[in-house]
Amino acid sequence: MIRTGFSKVVVPSSGRLFSSNATPSQIVNKHLWRTAGYINGEFTNGSATEFFDVHNPANGSVIAKLPRMGAKDAETAAQASYDAWQVWKNTTVKERSKVLMKMANLMTHYQEDLATIITLEAGKPLAEARGEVMYAQSFYELYSEEAKRINGDVLPQSVHGRRMLAIRQPVGPAALITPWNFPSAMITRKVGPALAAGCSVAIKPAEETPMSALALCVIAEEAGLPAGIMNCLTVARSEVVDVGTAMCHSPLFRKLSFTGSTPVGKWLMRECATTVKRISLELGGNAPFIVFDDADIETSVTALVNSKFRNAGQTCISSNRVLVQEGVYDAFAAALAARVTAMQCGDGLTEGSTCGPLINDAAVAKVGRHVEDCVAKGATVLAGGAAPADLNEAGGCFFTPTVMANVTEEMLPCIEETFGPIAPLLKFKTEDEALRIANSTRMGLASYLCTRDLARSWRVSEALEFGMVGVNEGAISADTTPFGGIKESGIGREGGPYGLEEYLEVKYICMGGITSV
Ligand code: SIN
Repeated sequence: MIRTGFSKVVVPSSGRLFSSNATPSQIVNKHLWRTAGYINGEFTNGSATEFFDVHNPANGSVIAKLPRMGAKDAETAAQASYDAWQVWKNTTVKERSKVLMKMANLMTHYQEDLATIITLEAGKPLAEARGEVMYAQSFYELYSEEAKRINGDVLPQSVHGRRMLAIRQPVGPAALITPWNFPSAMITRKVGPALAAGCSVAIKPAEETPMSALALCVIAEEAGLPAGIMNCLTVARSEVVDVGTAMCHSPLFRKLSFTGSTPVGKWLMRECATTVKRISLELGGNAPFIVFDDADIETSVTALVNSKFRNAGQTCISSNRVLVQEGVYDAFAAALAARVTAMQCGDGLTEGSTCGPLINDAAVAKVGRHVEDCVAKGATVLAGGAAPADLNEAGGCFFTPTVMANVTEEMLPCIEETFGPIAPLLKFKTEDEALRIANSTRMGLASYLCTRDLARSWRVSEALEFGMVGVNEGAISADTTPFGGIKESGIGREGGPYGLEEYLEVKYICMGGITSV
């Protein structure tokens, strides 16, 4: 069944909706703001009788109250995904492609509202949020096209009288667990290939940022995606283990894709063993950013700023350790400190803000701990260095963009991912030393190097034990490219044709009796 209208909100007898759940005035297309989960084509509270608050991290205000869905709702979503998949898996690639293209076009149409929703719930500056919407849109557009390239193979005949084929089929209903740092793009990067392959999905967005996920459900419905193909659970921290467990243990979900921390990824991997699910995990990073003596300073500073300070340093591919060769150390540090000092902390909806808030108080405390640890062990602060008291006393979760010199391997940013706007600078002498420090982590997501030496760019790219390498470039993410890590940074790839394979199974068919010999 293809529907184009909007579903009404279903209030179960045990549930109630909040009249205080007013749509923020900045949102023009009010129907994009939904305050209930989405199962089988209905916005619903499911089995929830209690609600949780969604906050704006720029000022602490409550922007929505959503039903606290639980394990029972995860099972309902699994059944809905499974039932709807029985029809969806038999659609033609052209039918799926058309719906995905409509979803992409609607994202472009609603770009401003979708960006505002991202800024309200995740805090990033509006210009960055607009960029995220179009990055997110690009996955729907790409996979609308990639759907048409799900080919099979006619294999070489190795036995007389038989013909051998390999066909690709959808894995099946997929449980998608997504993070708060890219509330829109981390959903479409999974939903796009899943729908293109012929899978259905149930999304569990982060409790901090469910509003973008729900807006994407509205868009899917408006584009004519059949009921049950895309479901969304609104889950508070108190229920997250129950819901995660239910998703992993349900035999109806054939696949789980997760973006988030390494400890949670390891737990999900263990739980998925109960049903031997296909898994994709995009986990934590601890990216090195290496500046060699032969690098162009301005290019390197721009690359680092793009990689380190995008979303206030809250990306899995943010540079975490900046290794600078001794010959350019002082010049690079001075140029970087000047650029970072010019950044402006503030509400993402306020004109001129270039660094939004962190997601919550715990994130601010962690960044503060990293700075204090470095300073206590001998680092020097060249820019920033503290949380802005005025903004945080008003309810915000900000940390001033920071640059520190004389950082060493014993200090916290070299040991764990900071996930905040601080650039710790370490000095090195030789290429071998830089590689040793860069690879001395159990993580392996992104890495960066700056050099004008072609041979070195090849050599070091090959030697870096990471899934992605940026050479003289800090903004490496794109719809067409393989995003993912090695070691404890994850399993699988998202983006491009690589991302589609994650939602496909290869089936071998052997046809006998074709000829007598
Ligand atoms: C992430 O932080 O996991 C995603 C970043 C990106 O796609 O660029």
